Amino acid sequence: DWTSDAFVETTIADLKQQLGNNKVVLALSGGVDSSVAAVLLHKAIGKNLHCIFVDNGLLRKNEYESVLEQYKNFGLNIKGVDAKDRFLSELAGVEDPEKKRKIIGRVFIEVFDDEAHQIQDVKWLAQGTIYPDVIESVSVKGPSATIKSHHNVGGLPDFMKLKVVEPLKTLFKDEVRRVGAALGLESFILGRHPFPGPGLGIRIIGEVTAEKIAILQEADHIYINNLKEAGLYDKVWQAGAIFLPVRSVGVMGDERTYENVIALRAVESLDGMTADWCHLPYNVLAKISNEIINKVRGINRVVYDISSKPPATIEWE
Ligand code: XMP
Repeated sequence: DWTSDAFVETTIADLKQQLGNNKVVLALSGGVDSSVAAVLLHKAIGKNLHCIFVDNGLLRKNEYESVLEQYKNFGLNIKGVDAKDRFLSELAGVEDPEKKRKIIGRVFIEVFDDEAHQIQDVKWLAQGTIYPDVIESVSVKGPSATIKSHHNVGGLPDFMKLKVVEPLKTLFKDEVRRVGAALGLESFILGRHPFPGPGLGIRIIGEVTAEKIAILQEADHIYINNLKEAGLYDKVWQAGAIFLPVRSVGVMGDERTYENVIALRAVESLDGMTADWCHLPYNVLAKISNEIINKVRGINRVVYDISSKPPATIEWE
């Protein structure tokens, strides 16, 4: 007999009680969980909720701007931080996936800590942790792992010494979505596919550069827009393009080309633990492939990933 309305009502009352007049800081990611947590907290404590949204330069095309805009429409007290260059320079020359993850996680914490220091007298750190994260909190890959898994070496960043409030920690994902809908969040946020914390940083195989990010963002944008136009986006659990460090020969007009390959991934899954590749219609794949090869400079070949998990993982890195 769980209802989202009752949850919203009692949680807001509890948060008011617990947090009183204290300030709370929260990292928004654009994902479902942190967004729902933010809106819930905002209803409870208003301007005392300080949100920070970091642009690591590894988000999808236009994602930072459009998500920031949505949050502002919700009246959230939000600070956007452009840290693109800092992430990029720390990633220079690094090829190993786990090293890239660690760097992205560490730089995120550094940027977030700097920003949290700008707010006077913060007492609480809010997180969008949900029940499955609590169970898997030792996993390096959980959505909240960006904050949890990298602080055990050396001293804690100051914000980690704050008291933690996690209003969604008893909920499963579908319940979080229902709470979000009850709070008036749109499908733009509630219906989005899961997206890894390290973002496109682990969808560029090998070294990450500004040029590769720009190419991948264009290809991914074409891919996702076509899934939406074909009415397939909501049927797929997660989809994204991957930049391969492989060059292959092609021909354009009379000229020989020698350019990179984009792989497309789309999976069906319940929780990401296992996944099946989606049997996307050939006509949709054909349109996506044509559009990417015609419009994205630097790409002359597109392939479709037909591997399921296990033994493949969803991400390539
Ligand atoms: P894999 O590749 O392990 O991915 O099959 C399973 C789910 O986890 C996401 N994923 C991550 N999420 N940080 C995250 O926040 C990470 O480092 C990370 N690696 C994978 C992946 O997108 C999929 O939804």
